[in-house]
Amino acid sequence: MAIERLVEPTLAEDAEEEKIEISLRPVTFAEYIGQEHLKNNLRLAIEAVRKRNDGSTLDHVLLYGPPGLGKTTMAGVIAHELGASLRVTSGPAIERAGDLASILTNLKDGDVLFIDEIHRLRRAVEEVLYSAMEDYKLDIVIGKGPAARSVRLDLPKFTVIGATTRTGALAGPLRDRFGIIHRLEYYKEPEIEQIIKRTAGILKTEIKPEACELLATRSRLTPRIANRLFKRVRDFADVNGDGIIDTVVAKNALELMEIDQLGLDPADRNMLRLMYENYGDRPVGLTTIAALTGDETTTIEDFYEPYLLQMGLLARTPKGRVVTEKGKKHLEKRKSGGKE
Ligand code: ADE
Repeated sequence: MAIERLVEPTLAEDAEEEKIEISLRPVTFAEYIGQEHLKNNLRLAIEAVRKRNDGSTLDHVLLYGPPGLGKTTMAGVIAHELGASLRVTSGPAIERAGDLASILTNLKDGDVLFIDEIHRLRRAVEEVLYSAMEDYKLDIVIGKGPAARSVRLDLPKFTVIGATTRTGALAGPLRDRFGIIHRLEYYKEPEIEQIIKRTAGILKTEIKPEACELLATRSRLTPRIANRLFKRVRDFADVNGDGIIDTVVAKNALELMEIDQLGLDPADRNMLRLMYENYGDRPVGLTTIAALTGDETTTIEDFYEPYLLQMGLLARTPKGRVVTEKGKKHLEKRKSGGKE
């Protein structure tokens, strides 16, 4: 059985949690902390569209990178900065070409269409999207059999913002239709601290600077996780103290959540341990890892691996994944009770 994870950077499932998550989202480039390179590029592109003022729209944008780094948030910021409406959907939600046709025909000039998990679009849907993105035309087939005929409809000039955890999974022709392609990077710790401070301000909670620093080191360099940990630590402070988050409260709450010094949770450690105990220094294939932990291979690739690779705890070799020296040391330290 896969372990349920607090640090999994998927969207909140609880309606109340989701409301809070949305209230924490920055709306403008000025409010959005980090991803400076991406922001500079997008600012320039948006400014150019504004200056030309000839009815042209922003090129289609593809954002990729590990989950939780703010792709959806950035799409909202782009739409806001363009003064455009944002329509949000996802690859798996568009089941048929007809679903996409109805979304596209309801757009207005200048609108932004955000497609999350765009690598999961079905082939038939993807094909409709090609011509829609390329020349704002919608090719539809009316009728069946010999009576079927193809019709071409004009579409408004819109911008697609696609988000994916891996560009490799995207079909070449689809990728080629994006004029602006950027990877979202893991945040730096001081940026995560800033994000936590901002969240504390919005949620009207006092957090001591050292506690903020501590939380930032445990947040896997990922804003969504930082905000989620912050909310759990705030609960802990409300229940067990006076609501103020200091280092003691933060440490105790993190201990309760079993999040260690590097931000790993039991599921990460379990995976590293299973790999090491069963295979030692030998490389392990992705499907074997998935069998060991009881997860899907995509879960391993999208959720566990990126951060473990980033932290140098896991390495990828042509023959499979191996636990690094640093990874082994980290496991040893936990085993010998070096929790804090
Ligand atoms: N909340 C989540 N991500 C954020 C970011 N990048 N900047 C500011 N607040 C955030």
